[in-house]
Amino acid sequence: MKIAKTIQEMREAVRDARRGGESLGLVPTMGALHEGHLSLVRAAKARCDAVAVSIFVNPLQFGPHEDLANYPRDFAGDCHRLEGEGVDFLFAPSVEEMYPETSVTYVELEGLSKRLCGGSRPGHFRGVATVVAKLFHIVEADLAFFGQKDAAQVAILRRMVKDLNFPVEIVVCPIVREPDGLAMSSRNAYLNPQERKSALQLHRSLNEVERRFQQGERDPASLIEAGKNVLAQEPGVRLDYFSIVDPDTLVPVTGLTRNALVAVAAFVGSTRLIDNAVLTP
Ligand code: PAF
Repeated sequence: MKIAKTIQEMREAVRDARRGGESLGLVPTMGALHEGHLSLVRAAKARCDAVAVSIFVNPLQFGPHEDLANYPRDFAGDCHRLEGEGVDFLFAPSVEEMYPETSVTYVELEGLSKRLCGGSRPGHFRGVATVVAKLFHIVEADLAFFGQKDAAQVAILRRMVKDLNFPVEIVVCPIVREPDGLAMSSRNAYLNPQERKSALQLHRSLNEVERRFQQGERDPASLIEAGKNVLAQEPGVRLDYFSIVDPDTLVPVTGLTRNALVAVAAFVGSTRLIDNAVLTP
């Protein structure tokens, strides 16, 4: 695996590798890799001749009081995992490399950036869109792989690719869960054993919404209330939002005649977790 720390090194490495017309897949990550990330890498390996992974804890997508300083980092372990998966290129730039002091350009998606996590984490999606736009330009991949766990991020990036005509296809891979149902997340590492149990309530609340939906409930407000009630049963969990939205626009739905995204965000102790499910009529 070739490790590139500068933009120029990465550009040269991937361009050399693609001289023969090979297809390239990109898996953008912030490191602390788990099975969810590795499922993206495997999907990329299955569809592309060569695979690049980026590891960059992007300061632009963290709020001033969020966990940027404590975000889990395990570069040596990540390299070992990626070598094991047969990854060809790893791009691991410094903050200075990605954001020189002179940098003043950002990618903002009007409206969309402020929905779901964008509402409770101002600036978050601007940070995500900006760094992913830069990664797309640097790596010039044909396909880019993201997890459905970050469903709002997927909606934002799909829209950015469409609006700004990026020549890349976004591939979305299913949520990977622990055996008991907790969605895999690098932030699960923050949970103590009691919080780890409480965290399961997010998945339970989605299961309850799906169960009622399958029984014929079609009123979004009733489904949201049912989901919130399940969350409220666990005192260690504090709701951030529970919404049923259009998966592309992230606008709350008023009826359930088309696919809808049920999205939940909640604090377990001081750890903010997200999860979601898709309702298909
Ligand atoms: O999903 C993530 O890990 C990040 O938001 C991403 C896409 C790597 C951008 O920093």
